[in-house]
Amino acid sequence: MTIHSEKIIILDFGSQTTQLIARRIREQKVYSEIHPYTLPLEQLKAMNPTGIVLSGGPASVYDDDAPISDPGLFELGVPVLGICYGAQLMMVQQGGRVERAEHREFGKAELNIDYTAGIFAGMETTPSHYQVWMSHGDRIEELAPGFTVTATSGHSPYAAVRHEERPFVAVQFHPEVAHTLIGNDVLRNFIFGICGCKPEWTMHSFIDATVQEIKDKVGDGQVICALSGGVDSSVVAAMVHRAIGNQLTCIYVNNGLMRTGESKSIIDFFTQKTDLQLIDVDAEEFFLGRLDGISDPEEKRKRIGYGFIEIFEQEAKKLGKVKFLAQGTLYPDVIESVVFRGKAPIKSHHNVGGLPERMAMELIEPLRELFKDEVRELGLELGLPEEAIYRQPFPGPGLGIRIMGEVTGERLQILRQADVIVLEEMKDSGWYRKVWQSFAVLLPIQTVGVMGDGRTYEHVIALRSVDSRDAMTADWSRLPYEILGKISSRIINEVRGVNRVVYDISSKPPSTIEWE
Ligand code: XMP
Repeated sequence: MTIHSEKIIILDFGSQTTQLIARRIREQKVYSEIHPYTLPLEQLKAMNPTGIVLSGGPASVYDDDAPISDPGLFELGVPVLGICYGAQLMMVQQGGRVERAEHREFGKAELNIDYTAGIFAGMETTPSHYQVWMSHGDRIEELAPGFTVTATSGHSPYAAVRHEERPFVAVQFHPEVAHTLIGNDVLRNFIFGICGCKPEWTMHSFIDATVQEIKDKVGDGQVICALSGGVDSSVVAAMVHRAIGNQLTCIYVNNGLMRTGESKSIIDFFTQKTDLQLIDVDAEEFFLGRLDGISDPEEKRKRIGYGFIEIFEQEAKKLGKVKFLAQGTLYPDVIESVVFRGKAPIKSHHNVGGLPERMAMELIEPLRELFKDEVRELGLELGLPEEAIYRQPFPGPGLGIRIMGEVTGERLQILRQADVIVLEEMKDSGWYRKVWQSFAVLLPIQTVGVMGDGRTYEHVIALRSVDSRDAMTADWSRLPYEILGKISSRIINEVRGVNRVVYDISSKPPSTIEWE
């Protein structure tokens, strides 16, 4: 069995919502992949797509430097769906005309459907109308030969079109965004009705196929994996272990900068519930030594990063010749995003840089086709505990970058105690899973307070909680005052050495999520 017998290929023209198209399709249990619009026709053909989607994008088809995909894709005998810019490109490549619209259409619009088959199967014609989401400055002015209109909106006489004989459809609106209430129906009609896909891509089938792939690649070789206690590395370990059992060895490096109890549930799970070979290295002293007297944030990050590589290499060497390194790379890190006039997001990577190159090992990346929520689903399917699966992201340098200034054993202890209270209160109130991250930061100052009858001069804890989709941008969480109040009074009462708590109300950008 090949891993994806049916797949929808999305050509990316730089829209901010291209990833959503892939997710919406995968949610319908059909595999979908994103490639840049520059993908050579031969490669596209070799992928044997069941359907092709041309995404939206910020350009105008008439710009000198407009992104143009090979028009030969219309001759592959494969259904094509054009979305927004993709719709306009399809029209122009097929002989129609697109022009700058007098009125930009942006936001919600009402769609009137004239044709209730194809992508609009199951829907009704006017007087019914459907809410869709538009975002375009150009619009189709003249249909290409063979095409006919299937829906209109206030400002778009050709809001949706179809070819009368060939399986080409195009929509000016964005079916992938939630504001398009019929978006999922439109995509479903395209992938099942027009492309003829079957809903067979499930986590279960993904596991079976991936297990086989890993077995084939590894043979009787040895694999190592750095287990961090985070979701991605835990799922990688569980997946690879499912495939090759004790040919996998995981190395967990305790750098002494973890949250209280962090990683424990993962370590417990793997040691108690599986026969995974786990090397648990306690390197707390080593890391604290390396950080002694260091206050500069970048210097701290570097020392923690290099320290990790050093320890990991030492341990790995003891295992003899190991050919493979398993790593939790996810799909968003893999997609060659179309950087278009600087508008595409720039993703910063915080991975353990350079490890695979240094160690000259082959990589095994079983998650490289998955989005984060799919990784969680996979983890559950592989039997990992919920608590581990829904853990908030935690930075590699750990509490080291949440202690402003020098990292010492004493300051770590203060931060850990405060941090535990934040987590307990977030979990108890049900907010832990509603926010992206929530944590405490220890500031490098002391302030005056009064306790009992006495003056105090003690530490300040900053509370940070943010909402985010992908950590690229974030906003501070609007936590209820009651929760803020409770966290504050508990920290001040329970953590010796702290007499003040402040809440961070900055968004990213211009701030960042972590303080260092
Ligand atoms: P910033 O502070 O850049 O953080 O807004 C964005 C996201 O990345 C996490 N982060 C890291 N993760 N190693 C990691 O594995 C790092 O060095 C690192 N620095 C920040 C941060 O927690 C947030 O989720």
